[in-house]
Amino acid sequence: MNNKLLLVYLSVLVAKLLAESIVVKTKWHEVVIKSKTTATFQIVTNPLVLPTSPIGAQVYKNIKELNAEWSRFAAWYPYPRMSVAELHPPRCDASVNKTSWDFKLLDPQVTNFLDANAGRTSYLSFCTQPAWLFKDTKVDIPKDYTVPTWSYQQGSKLVDESAQQIADYYARMAAWYSHGGFIDECGDLQKSNHHYNIAGFEVFTVEYYTKVYDKVVAKVRRYLPNAEFIGLSLINPRRNYNYINYFLNSSNHDAGIPLDWISYHFYAEPDDSKPVDSWSKQIFEQTDDFLSHVPEFEKIRKSLSPNTKTTINELGVILGGSATQQQPKPIPDAYWNIAAAQYAYCYVKLASLGIDAVGMSQMVGYPSQYPSVSMVNWETGVGNARYFVLKLINKHIGVQNGNRDVTLVQTEQASSLVFVQSFIVAGKSERWVKKTLILNKSSSNLVVEIDGMTGGELEYLDTTTGTYSDAKQIKTKNAIQVGPYFVGVVTYDE
Ligand SMILES: *[C@@H]1O[C@H](CO)[C@@H](O)[C@H](O)[C@H]1NC(C)=O
Ligand SMILES: *[C@@H]1O[C@H](CO)[C@@H](O)[C@H](O)[C@H]1NC(C)=O
Ligand SMILES: *[C@@H]1O[C@H](CO)[C@@H](O)[C@H](O)[C@H]1NC(C)=O
Repeated sequence: MNNKLLLVYLSVLVAKLLAESIVVKTKWHEVVIKSKTTATFQIVTNPLVLPTSPIGAQVYKNIKELNAEWSRFAAWYPYPRMSVAELHPPRCDASVNKTSWDFKLLDPQVTNFLDANAGRTSYLSFCTQPAWLFKDTKVDIPKDYTVPTWSYQQGSKLVDESAQQIADYYARMAAWYSHGGFIDECGDLQKSNHHYNIAGFEVFTVEYYTKVYDKVVAKVRRYLPNAEFIGLSLINPRRNYNYINYFLNSSNHDAGIPLDWISYHFYAEPDDSKPVDSWSKQIFEQTDDFLSHVPEFEKIRKSLSPNTKTTINELGVILGGSATQQQPKPIPDAYWNIAAAQYAYCYVKLASLGIDAVGMSQMVGYPSQYPSVSMVNWETGVGNARYFVLKLINKHIGVQNGNRDVTLVQTEQASSLVFVQSFIVAGKSERWVKKTLILNKSSSNLVVEIDGMTGGELEYLDTTTGTYSDAKQIKTKNAIQVGPYFVGVVTYDE
């Protein structure tokens, strides 16, 4: 043995001796739950998601390659010119007789999103309502559509309290994308030539929500007879038990209104004035706290409306120092791996609770637009660790509209530092394969031994694989060294 080789050999040996060894045991015959959980994402409106932006082409390529079902397009509010198709109230009097319908900026976002998801389910959330639908609003809309304004969403009482006017707005939005266009308020034909088959339509929260939901759904459904409707979109479900209770009670709805889905959100918010190595603990503690409430929402849902599905359609981490500031605090590389591990952890935990879809928030963030929530490098458009973990999950254990059978089986948690879950997975015409997801919540190096892993394949990311790189694949031995914030999936050699 030459000296160099000896040195390598000794350092591996020392690393193994120093590192804590964790033995993972799976009881392959003990079923926890048959998964129905789709791993997915959302993309929200901002100038960088325009296909003509410097990263636009890459962003829609990312979406296509994710192969995710039930993905969400959200036209959110900082860029009203990009999110609202009718910025001003119609003036159908003889002197003006014109509406302000304009899809120039919305269309490229929506059509590229739907096209990138062709053949898969995806849904639209026009969550920014025209301000003029509400009483006592006075909005200042920047002339330059790329300049954000944080005060567009105003008012809580509708001008038309019967909610027919807001329902008509949404019906026209649906008709634009599904029926080639619509007749506007003044009687003019607005032609789109779009005939998309849209899988879902989300109706966003406003005051007297249930009533508005019913009126909007009743009208939109004329144009989207096959779509599923997503309701609630609750930012803080724990403070809104009453909403969930009220909304899921069919006695509070007009006859025949579907309650296909409810949606709610969660973001961990660590104290980012502390060093990055302390963030993981905070993020996982906050995430565990959120997860501990999900069974309570599930109890309400199961008792009131058991066929309603749930999507947690915004999941992520927000760093306070890197939110809407033009000059955010720089984000350390390790953060992306921590946040990626948080999604993987949530996905598996929520799968074990029977949640239908878990959506990573959001495809493109950047300085001033919640950069810490981004799934891509905003300069290149290439996916970061969060994007690649979502892709990894989708590839191995995500349930994709019944195309794959995934069963969670009893897996021993040998340490609080790592989290493991084993799965038995089969595609439509494939044989069963065994898989184990492993993730490291800490920033120390550990050795993980898994029964039966030898000769299998491991696909993983950690802080050593590079923040902006695809997952790495290796043949496994009986033990693997897992680095900081590791997320990996072992596929066993049968
Ligand atoms: C407005 O225009 C529509 C369609 O062009 C027309 O049918 C209608 O009579 C006009 N209304 C008024 C008040 O001029
Ligand atoms: C459902 O709503 C009706 C009408 O508001 C109410 O009387 C009933 O108690 C509610 N049911 C439950 C289970 O909360
Ligand atoms: C997790 O990463 C930390 C920090 O890099 C490392 O020390 C620790 O050994 C890893 N844990 C496991 C179980 O791999």
